[in-house]
Amino acid sequence: VSREEPESILLPGGSEPSPDTRIWIGAGLLDRADRFLVSPSGRFVLISPPSAASAADRVRRRLEGRLIADIALDDRESSKTLSAIGGIADRALSAGVRRDDAVVAIGGGVTSDVAGLAAALLLRGLAWNAVPTTTGAMADAAIGGKTGVDHPAGKNLLGAFHPPRAVLLDPTAASTLPDRDFRAGLVEAFKAAWIADADLARRAAAALERIVAREEGALIELLAGAARVKASIVSSDPREGGRRRLLNFGHTLGHALEAAGEYRHLRHGEAVAWGICAALEISRRRCGLPRSDADGIREVLRRLGPYPEPVRDPRVLEPFLTRDKKATAGGIAAVLLEAAGRARVVEAVPAAEWLDAAAIMSFK
Ligand SMILES: NC(=O)c1ccc[n+]([C@@H]2O[C@H](COP(=O)([O-])OP(=O)(O)OC[C@H]3O[C@@H](n4cnc5c(N)ncnc54)[C@H](O)[C@@H]3O)[C@@H](O)[C@H]2O)c1
Ligand SMILES: [Zn+2]
Repeated sequence: VSREEPESILLPGGSEPSPDTRIWIGAGLLDRADRFLVSPSGRFVLISPPSAASAADRVRRRLEGRLIADIALDDRESSKTLSAIGGIADRALSAGVRRDDAVVAIGGGVTSDVAGLAAALLLRGLAWNAVPTTTGAMADAAIGGKTGVDHPAGKNLLGAFHPPRAVLLDPTAASTLPDRDFRAGLVEAFKAAWIADADLARRAAAALERIVAREEGALIELLAGAARVKASIVSSDPREGGRRRLLNFGHTLGHALEAAGEYRHLRHGEAVAWGICAALEISRRRCGLPRSDADGIREVLRRLGPYPEPVRDPRVLEPFLTRDKKATAGGIAAVLLEAAGRARVVEAVPAAEWLDAAAIMSFK
């Protein structure tokens, strides 16, 4: 483990009370986590699921004597509810949590969404820190300040913007992650490159074998690049009016495929991979995306698969598509590519166009 100052990215918080986020990047950061985690009082409430135990143990060792509560979270998507927030509040309040204590969330995106919202609500807002342990959370969920839980009426319908003070991006935190989740999460990292960083997209595609083999240097380059893209987009549009929508590349159809599979059939990243595949077709037609760029992206996605076959039946998919938050009478706003590394939003693409693309999408 290098003892040098690790690389970091500053994501400015904008207006009060939204704080700055410092994203630290490096292999082995977990073993000196105490240097990077922020707590005004020096005391922490640790929240983590059993699956992230090995990463959490490394952090616990560094916070000995400073944990006022150590809370095990059930991180199934079906448990991402307000009652999980209630459970965390019960534990933290009975442990005597104070305004100047901080939360540290160690786990995947479900954990950071739930623990971040708990931090936003407890005593009207505690500082919190994210230690993502999935590639998906490293590339996406832990960065940007959105926290939330699901409601029976839909995913992520209850939430708050509450940016963490520090994010520790340590690829070794994902060392116990099963390969399928590992590769699915990488789809989100490549997504960041494809919407905004052609050079990163090129370098990461060239390093794909090393990335999939979990070689630390190659992984850090991709994850740091993705974090930089997300940080830059979020800081230019903290509340999702304009540019932040680009991050939804692949998600319009992706969310519909995920929902049609009842969130069990496809991993989120796998649904996004299919969604990107369909968006490439529409981008070819509407935005002049060069064939060679589309082929290159499909090739990377193919290598991150295989993915379970999604629902393609338009009669099943259509209702899930048209209930998208971005749907209007004329169609659904689509994030499309002009080139690998350059995305734009096209308003009102008819649902039929998505359904046609879904019927034929393929990674071949
Ligand atoms: N807030 C945001 O901006 C944002 C962005 C993207 C996604 N999300 C949310 O994130 C969630 C998805 O996150 P995810 O992809 O990280 O999935 P996840 O949190 O569901 O984790 C995936 C699986 O990996 C397990 N796991 C986590 N870390 C592990 C480790 N180190 N070793 C072994 N197993 C481990 C988990 O228990 C789970 O079974 C969704 O709820 C989504 O809504 C939020
Ligand atoms: Zn996503």
